[in-house]
Amino acid sequence: MNSYSAFAYVYDQLMEDVDYENWVDYIEEIFKKYEVRPQNIAELACGTGNVTNILAKRGYNLIGVDISEDMLFLAQEKARDVGAEVIYLNHDMRELSLPSELDNILCICDGINYIVDEKDLLKVFQSVYNHLKNEGLFIFDISSYYKLSNILGNNTYAENFQEVSYIWENYFDEERSVCDFDLTIFSKEGTMYKKYEESHSQKAYRENEIVENLKSAGFNKIERFEAFTFDKPGDESERIYFICQR
Ligand SMILES: C[S@@+](CC[C@H](N)C(=O)[O-])C[C@H]1O[C@@H](n2cnc3c(N)ncnc32)[C@H](O)[C@@H]1O
Repeated sequence: MNSYSAFAYVYDQLMEDVDYENWVDYIEEIFKKYEVRPQNIAELACGTGNVTNILAKRGYNLIGVDISEDMLFLAQEKARDVGAEVIYLNHDMRELSLPSELDNILCICDGINYIVDEKDLLKVFQSVYNHLKNEGLFIFDISSYYKLSNILGNNTYAENFQEVSYIWENYFDEERSVCDFDLTIFSKEGTMYKKYEESHSQKAYRENEIVENLKSAGFNKIERFEAFTFDKPGDESERIYFICQR
């Protein structure tokens, strides 16, 4: 089964403690810090539209791109519920083809870690560069090497809700620097629970690998921050923001 198919329907429950309004406040603080006023924004790996729909409601023109039809189905439903106007596209960001030049491209909540092959990473960065206007910003975050290898890796998580339960078993492969997640989901259907299984893999990138690939793609102005701050990331930072200006 593909990643983010059955899991799509659990994703928002898993993320229910995340304050996405605050997250979008941080993105807008970045716009202010860099003195940009983007109008046309694309969000890659937009998932169920948690950030996308909020940005659209705040007046930006949004394109949301994701590889998972199930995540996009939920994003569209949520957009309808809140009256957010977003163009959602079912694309693989490794083969990005967007209709116009953009002021800003986002990839929020570790979408970049799903690009497991470094050659594909360079392709994504080159394509982002080509889709951005001059001075446009590419803003993304990653789960750090530290987080994938020391916190998530070789750990098991489980949660038991009324309608759905999941077990999330993680294995970190030092040689490939990849964390493989095996997910088992039990979802209530009528009076029974149906079992679904799917696997995800995330690459644990070192910061300098990311920077080298960004430079090869053409970005020269690159800054890194500990997530939700404008401080330098530390050895134990779990989420790191990269802000790259074309
Ligand atoms: C952790 S979720 C993040 C979702 C959303 N950005 C959020 O903040 O809630 C990662 C998303 O990346 C998407 N994804 C993974 N690989 C992708 C690819 N190659 N192209 C586009 N989307 C991808 C998945 O389908 C999933 O929706």
